[in-house]
Amino acid sequence: MARHLITSALPYINGIKHLGNMVGSMLPADVYSRYLRRRGHEVLYICATDEHGTPAELAAKAAGLPVEEYCARQHLAQKAVYDGFALSFDHFGRSSSRQNREITQEFARELHANGFVEERSVRQVYSNTDGRFLPDRYIEGTCPYCGYDKARGDQCENCTRLLDPTDLIDARSAVSGSRDLEVRETTHLFLLQSRLEGEVAAWIDACGGEWPTLASSIARKWLTEGLADRAITRDLDWGVPVPGDVWPELAAAGKVFYVWFDAPIEYLGATREWADAAPAGESRDWKSWWYEADDVRHTEFMAKDNVPFHTVMFPATIIGTRAPWKKVDQVKAFNWLTYYGGKFSTSRRHGIFTDAALELLPADYWRYFLIANAPESDDSSFSWELFASVVNKDLADTLGNFVNRVLSFGLKRFGDRVPVGGRPGEAEHALGEEVAGLLAEYEGHLEALRLRRAAQALRALWSAGNSYLEAKAPWVEVRTDEAAAALTLRTAMNLIHLYGVVSAPLIPATADAMRAVFSLPAHGPAAELAWVTGEQAAALDLVPAGTAFVVPPVLFAKIDDERLDAWRERFGAG
Ligand code: MF3
Ligand code: ZN
Repeated sequence: MARHLITSALPYINGIKHLGNMVGSMLPADVYSRYLRRRGHEVLYICATDEHGTPAELAAKAAGLPVEEYCARQHLAQKAVYDGFALSFDHFGRSSSRQNREITQEFARELHANGFVEERSVRQVYSNTDGRFLPDRYIEGTCPYCGYDKARGDQCENCTRLLDPTDLIDARSAVSGSRDLEVRETTHLFLLQSRLEGEVAAWIDACGGEWPTLASSIARKWLTEGLADRAITRDLDWGVPVPGDVWPELAAAGKVFYVWFDAPIEYLGATREWADAAPAGESRDWKSWWYEADDVRHTEFMAKDNVPFHTVMFPATIIGTRAPWKKVDQVKAFNWLTYYGGKFSTSRRHGIFTDAALELLPADYWRYFLIANAPESDDSSFSWELFASVVNKDLADTLGNFVNRVLSFGLKRFGDRVPVGGRPGEAEHALGEEVAGLLAEYEGHLEALRLRRAAQALRALWSAGNSYLEAKAPWVEVRTDEAAAALTLRTAMNLIHLYGVVSAPLIPATADAMRAVFSLPAHGPAAELAWVTGEQAAALDLVPAGTAFVVPPVLFAKIDDERLDAWRERFGAG
């Protein structure tokens, strides 16, 4: 059986992420990891903060902190939010780690030894006022393509085009605002991607066909435009230093690698951090996940703007090492989640940030909503109205209400044990078949990374319980035929247990609560992780008559108009 390596794009260190970031990388990776673990696969789910580059330096400056200190604090702040969302990372690392520095420098040495790195002298903007070069975001100005007046040196946020700082019109320093700028010569390392283009194209032809369309189409489009050689160093204080054994002069001049060079390497770095953090007595082999790792299947999750880096540039880097490092097998990309059709924006306080979301409601509300509305084939839009209606219908009515009705009624009429009596008949067989069919559908969607459809299949499983209950109406049965009512309730209770198992990838805390309803003898750690087979799902008898149960508190509270209005007001709707 393959081992599964799962990674989500590394969130930038500068600030708490919004819901769009969450649904575009970490959350779906977590759902997939949880699913595969329960199916009995060996899974390693790795993520980390992406800490280098100009965004970190500028944010630290704005916060009035040394950049190391800023990053250490922000890492913990992000980690706390991800714990709150129940993201089940095996390791959440930091791209500023020693491990990443070592592997990044080693990659650069290998690329150099193979003739894929070259020193080139380039013209760069220098600020006389600040006494420094102004790479990437250190410079702002007007976009030459769309006229947006706050374009950054590396990219125009408005038209998304990649820019070079020297392209900007009316350029000024982002540090001081000074326009006293000049163009100076400086030396940087270039990765000769143009020489690797053919090999990257051949690799994408061989594997890219397996990727979902969004990822493969972006990869191919990028390749058609051609792979240009790319500067992989910067004049910054904060980053992985260029190794002095190979480039003594550049190292002495304080050059560091460009953030997009060391960030993907942190997937390996963080795996090594995970291994180095092994508790006493446990040995972990990080390299076996990455080097000559033919038995490993690597699935990456990311937003669509990350696709070129993961499908073209990072693979080019790996190919250039001429060493058997693992390349990605499966790439799941996402479009944008919008807020009432507009961009989430930190500066305009537009949208919902992950920390604020958790202050309003527990993680499962958000996890379910986001997966059910994931921007897979197209952008999708968050609105409070849609959110409230999904929570109220799917979570509170279809699932939560079912669980409470069945258990409270059972308790009232039959006491606190799963009722005894009756034999499964036609209705139970039909239900069992329907449930087994929906379960297979759900599994198929999760395996193929179709998350919205997985959520739909899960909701259909919940609905099947409601239809069965309405049709059998145990509150009527009980008046004339106790055994019939007992059978109906026992079957419905078995559905609750089944929901407790199969809902876990999407709503782990609620799933735990549903499984904990029943005092099953095998309720140990192994049973917690076990999935159900199609046969077990069809039989609906894993929870036998006589099993003690408790009625849990309401699983999901409805969002009433008052709360809805308060949130629309507070976050600004539309
Ligand atoms: N920090 C980047 C972003 O948020 C993603 C980096 S992914 C990595 O867009 F693989 F390069 F680390
Ligand atoms: Zn522009």
